[in-house]
Amino acid sequence: MYLNYLVATLYLVAQASALPSVLHRQAVDFVDPRVNGGSLLDNAGSGGGEPLNVIISGLSSPDVLTDSGIVNFAKAIGFSTECLGIHLGDPQSANLGDGNGPQNQTIELRQDYGDPDVGTCLESLIGGNHFRVFRQNGPLAPTGALFLAVSQEEPATESHTIIPDGYDLGRNSFVAGAIGSKSFGGVNYSTIAQNMTNLLPVGSNGVNHGIAIDGIVTLLTVTIE
Ligand SMILES: *[C@@H]1O[C@H](CO)[C@@H](O)[C@H](O)[C@H]1NC(C)=O
Ligand SMILES: *[C@@H]1O[C@H](CO)[C@@H](O)[C@H](O)[C@H]1NC(C)=O
Ligand SMILES: *[C@@H]1O[C@H](CO)[C@@H](O)[C@H](O)[C@H]1NC(C)=O
Repeated sequence: MYLNYLVATLYLVAQASALPSVLHRQAVDFVDPRVNGGSLLDNAGSGGGEPLNVIISGLSSPDVLTDSGIVNFAKAIGFSTECLGIHLGDPQSANLGDGNGPQNQTIELRQDYGDPDVGTCLESLIGGNHFRVFRQNGPLAPTGALFLAVSQEEPATESHTIIPDGYDLGRNSFVAGAIGSKSFGGVNYSTIAQNMTNLLPVGSNGVNHGIAIDGIVTLLTVTIE
């Protein structure tokens, strides 16, 4: 009995330590996707892309960078998973230059208007802030950093299009809501922001819906206290 338990435990330990993302994580904020053929504009399927205008640093607390971790952080700053699991619109893909090529977003979250359960339904109806998450974890750049495409949307009646200036406004309100001390589900976060200007183009060239952007990407480092 005891031996079986021991063998099972050793097997689990061996499996856990075989996870490459745990063993070989690259300890940097992120790697510039352009170095290996990627882009800070995703593929929105329309010929243009949405800017990946917020990066959650790979130097954030590791628990923030998991799927459940980013959802909990999102809830702490006023977002939730999509309304009743109903997905409006197709997934978008991004090439983060990590060797994985174009990958679909891992998750999409919407502003919850103060109620993590039904608030996102409100967002779907009246519009608001939302973001898509892409993870940089391929063999060429296993940083764990999360690249977010943040934008402010029109209501569903306007078929979820981005408002004029919606990328910059979405980013600014997301960042304003994220910095400082936040908490949700018993987890306390402390977040600092830094703007970077050399990663995205300025203007509307290549941008989905031809909406001009200021070219700023905000790097957030989120620490669990
Ligand atoms: C992305 O999602 C679409 C729709 O679900 C699917 O057809 C496509 O194969 C996916 N692309 C990748 C790279 O996984
Ligand atoms: C989170 O912050 C609150 C308020 O400062 C504090 O009471 C609580 O102990 C903290 N929780 C953790 C897990 O650090
Ligand atoms: C980043 O740039 C935006 C837009 O100019 C500005 O509103 C924000 O305060 C800046 N944030 C930081 C941390 O510099």
